[in-house]
Amino acid sequence: MERSFLIEAAWTTRNLAYAPYSNFQVGAAVETTDGKIFTGCNVENLSYGLTICAERSAIFSAVAAGCQTFSRIVVVADTDEPISPCGACRQVMAEFQIPEIILCNRHSQMIFTLDQLLPRATTGILNH
Ligand code: THU
Repeated sequence: MERSFLIEAAWTTRNLAYAPYSNFQVGAAVETTDGKIFTGCNVENLSYGLTICAERSAIFSAVAAGCQTFSRIVVVADTDEPISPCGACRQVMAEFQIPEIILCNRHSQMIFTLDQLLPRATTGILNH
């Protein structure tokens, strides 16, 4: 599918974010290797630690629908620079070996490999 389609899906889902504490809305869309799209947005909580980011929301929706292999993920926010995923989300991206990570703001995109965002994610753990 066109990259622009995936990016559009992330922006649309960003509008659904529940972010009353930060007022910072984030959207994500993950593409499965068989061409499906799952989207996510951040959902905050009064006890801040329970907040879930858009990226994990999208990935976990896909897993709950039976999909575990992904080709890429898009993350969007209205920031000066393309958004930077948190460490927890990078670790979850590593868990599912998402090969391409596309980070966007309103006017630009940056494309990264997993290894660029989280080097040595599995090296030296559990003899992986
Ligand atoms: N957030 C995301 O959803 N994804 C990111 O990549 C960065 C941060 C959310 C978490 C919280 O709801 C808000 O943005 C502020 O950090």
